[in-house]
Order: sequence, then structure tokens, then C-alpha cells
Amino acid sequence: MERLLVLNGPNLNRLGKREPDIYGSETITDVVKRVETIASPFHVEVRNFQSNHEGELIDQLHSLDDSFIGVVFNPGAYTHTSIALRDAISSISIPVIEVHISNVHQRETFRHTSLLAPVCLGQVVGLGVRGYELAARALLEEKQKG
Ligand code: DQA
Repeated sequence: MERLLVLNGPNLNRLGKREPDIYGSETITDVVKRVETIASPFHVEVRNFQSNHEGELIDQLHSLDDSFIGVVFNPGAYTHTSIALRDAISSISIPVIEVHISNVHQRETFRHTSLLAPVCLGQVVGLGVRGYELAARALLEEKQKG
């Protein structure tokens, strides 16, 4: 069976509780349900992984086998700092779409730069948790195109 990974980085385990004015009230479980609804007509199974640790996110990316059609990745603050995560994305051939719930470009300048965007298939920014659904749809449609 084909699979899609929803990958979340640091502090996103607190989604729903964390700064709800910025990130909303839905939890990762809610987000995964949204993505499952998008993926199910494509007969693609959704896997979910969150870690606050850079190395665990890297290990997770390295561990993906050919059954994975893509990764919907919110790297949290590592977006702006992690050359190691960028290299991990470059090292695999599975497409990754970067997602940010908030519009990082309306926020502090240190959030305006992504070290990961150049090695991702695309980016979805500022559309709330809907961004995970939009990214998943793009990966599923890319896969269907073949
Ligand atoms: C975020 C934006 C990042 O700048 C921040 O560090 C996060 C969440 C977002 O989803 O908007 O943790 O990735």
C-alpha cells in the first residue's frame, strides 16, 4: 500500500494549545484526520510522526521506503536554522512539501528565511492547518500523474 507521511517538528506536539491565536485550536490528531480524508479516495495510508529533536526528524526521513509517495512537513523553527534537515531532504528522492500554518512572512524577520524550501517540491504558507490538506492533495495528484 502506498503511504504519505505527515511530519511535524518541534513544539507542534502542542498544536491546539500553543498560541491558538496564531496556530488555531486543532491538534495534530485533527490535522491527520483531515489528511486521511483527502488521501483515502487515492487509497493512500497516512502515517504521522512528530518530534522535538532534529536528529529524530532526520532519522524518520532516512527511514522512508519506496512505499512513501511524499512527505507533508512542518519543520517548525528548524525551517529557519537546520542545514542538517535540508541535507536529509536532499538525500532522499521522495518529494517533500513544506507547510507553515502561520504566514511566516508577516512575522519576525528570522522567520522569513527557509533553509529547506530550495530542496522541497513546494511550500504552503499562512493558510492555517488547511495547508496540510493542500500539500497532501498536491502530492497525491503528482503521484497520480505518474
Ligand atoms: C511554523 C512557523 C515557524 O516559524 C515556527 O517556529 C513554528 C510553526 C508554522 O507552522 O507556522 O514552530 O512552522
